[in-house]
Amino acid sequence: LIEDACQAFGSKWNEKFLGTWGDIGVFSFSPHKIITTGQGGAIVTNNDEVYERIKKLKDFCRIKPGVDIHTGIGFNFKFTDLQAVIGIEQLKMIEFRIKRKKEIYEKYMDGLSEVEFIQFLPEYLSQTVPWFVDIITETPRDKIISYLKENGIGSRPFYPAIHSQEPYRECKGTFNISSAIALRGLWLPSSIGLKDEEIKQIINVIERFS
Ligand SMILES: Cc1ncc(COP(=O)(O)O)c(C=O)c1O
Repeated sequence: LIEDACQAFGSKWNEKFLGTWGDIGVFSFSPHKIITTGQGGAIVTNNDEVYERIKKLKDFCRIKPGVDIHTGIGFNFKFTDLQAVIGIEQLKMIEFRIKRKKEIYEKYMDGLSEVEFIQFLPEYLSQTVPWFVDIITETPRDKIISYLKENGIGSRPFYPAIHSQEPYRECKGTFNISSAIALRGLWLPSSIGLKDEEIKQIINVIERFS
């Protein structure tokens, strides 16, 4: 079992970290993730055979780094030292980063709790590290996006439902919940660098939306 835990660094289920349930867990360190190295990510496994295989695959399938004898077809997925340094420095502050991500989410939730056209997805902050601040809007989303933009605030619509994307158009079935969420979901500014005053300002702007 390969577990896609790309967005879930630091999150748990039943006190066990996501990414550690399967044989292999995959994390992304692309921008906006809990930690980022620009691009790239990490694979975790307790299986020695898988570990050795992945180590070779990412290094052109050479018998060992620096020796150009190939035992199969591999790839160049090597992580650079420069990226590693950036990641390691963020890892040293992982407790703070997780705490701040949760605080940011809570501040939005508290501040927007009286705003009728906004719903929050059920989010279990005791176990989940929120990656983005997700809201579901009852008003036309485009109007909110334009209004926020006029006020200097960026936002981003949720990913389209996967069955609506070109490669999956032939997919049979109706996916009403995915479609509804995809059309109404919006991400609010979520950067770990957001200051409390900035969050307050965003909340004030949203409260004035009519
Ligand atoms: C669930 C999930 N899987 C895979 C990926 C891809 O990660 P990457 O961009 O590092 O290849 C992402 C990126 O956001 C993701 O959210």
